[in-house]
Formats: sequence, structure tokens, C-alpha cells
Amino acid sequence: MAILVTGGAGYIGSHTVLALLERGEDVVVIDNLSNASQESLIRVAELTGKEPAICVADILDRNALKTLFAQHNITDVIHFAGLKSVSESIAKPLAYYENNVVGTMVLLDEMQRAGVHSLIFSSSATVYGNPESVPLSEASRTGGTTNPYGTSKLMVEQILRDFSVAEPHFRITCLRYFNPAGAHPSGRLGEDPNGIPNNLVPYISQVAIGKLACLTVFGDDYPTPDGTGVRDYIHVMDLAQGHLAALDHRNDGEAFKAINLGTGVGYSVLDLIKAFEKAAQTKINYRIVGRRSGDVAECWSDSSLARQQLGWQATRNLEEMMRDAWNWQKNNPGGYNA
Ligand code: NAD
Ligand code: UFG
Repeated sequence: MAILVTGGAGYIGSHTVLALLERGEDVVVIDNLSNASQESLIRVAELTGKEPAICVADILDRNALKTLFAQHNITDVIHFAGLKSVSESIAKPLAYYENNVVGTMVLLDEMQRAGVHSLIFSSSATVYGNPESVPLSEASRTGGTTNPYGTSKLMVEQILRDFSVAEPHFRITCLRYFNPAGAHPSGRLGEDPNGIPNNLVPYISQVAIGKLACLTVFGDDYPTPDGTGVRDYIHVMDLAQGHLAALDHRNDGEAFKAINLGTGVGYSVLDLIKAFEKAAQTKINYRIVGRRSGDVAECWSDSSLARQQLGWQATRNLEEMMRDAWNWQKNNPGGYNA
């Protein structure tokens, strides 16, 4: 029996593959390496002493999926594969809808043909759009997404919800991640963005290592305690554990579930800078500029449903996230392929 992990060479996928292997699961990865290096999985094997089966292919490739389902006794699919840059999605909407929406539909169709009925999908807090209030619970209004990436996640959730009505024997869990950060504590696995990072923690890390000169803080006039944007940063190892919990509880309750994975605590951009400075024992050069279009003031979770339904909660704090992010950055200044 094996678990198929799509996008398993990527940032969250590789940490989850490690957690799955560590608890003795057999893992099959499909990844087209469009935003990852196979080196991540080589390191996962080094760290765990176990190897996932790896198929370098696209989830849009039906034949590759058919072969995988025929070759392995797959019981569950954890679906990370997709494109994730907000700015790129505005420039290339069709690529985002094709990869994220059509890709998921192809995967689901091939799962059904193969008789595999358990799916965990990487959703995002982006489905809540501009929050009416925080914390965000699963009962909060969704919609009002401001870019094709966010809309693709919302569309996939709706497709999965509709599908689960037609196919109630399926078990589908959408995990709505808040802001993943940090790295494996070994410093061997972490986030390796292509080019200049869009996200705050990789950006700060590259300023700390001297690759980038200065962090631009997008806005200090939000209605937040220090005026900068507030987010719910969650350690990637906690996120990985959240997937294991979702697997364990896949048969509980309804055919379709959507569950937040966050810590329930919000931190501002300035809080993150301070925490990173402490972890790295260095000053982060930053300057404040205007707001970034599409950003919301605050986005943090009510994480009680995950506690109740999955028996899961985040256990790592901001200090550990920044320590592990820095450990990864300083040990791998050029990422995986340097
Ligand atoms: P990532 O880019 O590191 O990982 C995605 C992986 O999928 C990559 O290895 C990439 O090569 C692969 N991939 C992309 N398209 C593919 C395709 N068509 N076929 C096969 N493989 C493909 O991203 P991540 O941060 O690990 O995110 C994983 C998932 O979680 C994504 O679906 C993302 O949208 C979602 N998510 C991420 C965040 C975040 O901030 N990192 C937040 C919320 C949700
Ligand atoms: N920020 C800066 N400077 C930067 C980068 C970010 O000040 O160089 C600020 C942003 O304005 C925001 C905070 O840092 O206040 C976090 O920004 P990120 O880009 O790291 O994360 P977002 O909350 O904007 O977006 C993330 C994911 C999206 C996902 C969204 C909602 O990157 O994929 O969370 O879940 F859609």
C-alpha cells in the first residue's frame, strides 16, 4: 500500500514525504520538477534512510498517472502539485488554470478509474479573499479572490465539493494552509524559490545572507498594531504533520471537508524581521514602501476545527520557524543546486 504525493519534490511536499517515510509509509512521488529539484528527494532519502519511488512527469499526463496507479498499490493521494505565484498568475492565468484546475480534474478522473478514493488537497487561506473579520474559521465567507492563483484554489475546492456529492464514497480533505515558513531542522531541506522571492521569509533570509540588499516592507499604514501586514506563519514541519493527521482521519465525517492549517496567532512583518534578526544574530536592512496590490491587512486562522477533527495543532513557534529558515539559508546559500 502506498501514498501518491503529487508535487512531492517541492517545498511542502518534500517535508511531507519525509514525515510519511519516517512513520513507515510507502511513498510514490510524481513531480514535473517545474519548480523543484530532485535533490530535495535525494536528501529526504539521506535523512530517513528510505527512498520514495519517483516519477518525473506532469499530472496532466494521463498515461503517466495510469502507469503509476497500475504499478503501485496506491490507497491515498496527497496533491501538492500546482503553480503558486500570485504575481505570475496575473501574467499567465491560463497556465495557472490549466495546472491547478485542469491538473486536479485529470488527477481525480484517473483516481476514479483506478479505484483510489482518498484525496488530500493543498488549498490556501487565499480562498477567504479579503477577510471580513479575523480569525478566519472554516465558516467564514470564501470568495472575492483577487488573482487567478487564488481563484484556481477556490475553483478546485468547488469542483471537489461537487464531485464528493456525486461520488460520496470518496474521502476528500482540503487543507487551507496559512503562511508556511521554516525548514527541516537539519538544514538539509527547505524552501528554494526560483529568482527573487515573492514571499516574506525567503526574502528576509536572502537579505540576511547578503544575496539581496534590502527588504521592502509593503505598507505601514494598515489597521494593525504596528501598521504592517499580519499573517499566520506556520512551520512547514507542523504542516507536514497536519497531512498525516488528515490521512489518519480521512474516514471520519463527511465525504468533503475543508480545514484550516494555521497556528491561530498572527505576527506582523516587523515582528518577523525582529524574530529573524534574533535567530540570525544580524541586522536586516529594510525600508518601508507603499502597500502591495492585492494584500490584505490581516489573515490569521481560527485553528480549532483541525484540533477537534484531526487532533492536530501546530507545536512550533515563530522563534523555531526563523531559526530553521536561517539554518537552511546559511547552509544552502544557493539552494539545492548550488
Ligand atoms: P512548490 O512549488 O515548492 O511545490 C509544488 C511542486 O509541484 C513543485 O515541486 C513543482 O515542480 C510541482 N508541479 C507543479 N506543477 C506540476 C504539474 N503540473 N505536474 C507535476 N508536478 C507539478 O510549492 P509549495 O510551497 O510546496 O506548495 C505546495 C502546494 O501548496 C501548492 O499547491 C500551493 O499552491 C499550496 N500552497 C502553498 C502555500 C505557500 O505559501 N507555500 C500556501 C498555501 C497553499
Ligand atoms: N511582505 C513584505 N515584503 C516582501 C514580501 C512580503 O512586506 O518582500 C509582506 C506582505 O505585504 C504581507 C506579508 O509580508 O503582509 C506576507 O507576505 P507573503 O508574500 O509572504 O505571503 P502572503 O500572505 O501575501 O501570501 C501567502 C502565499 C499565497 C497565499 C496567501 C494566502 O504566498 O500563495 O499566503 O494564503 F495565497
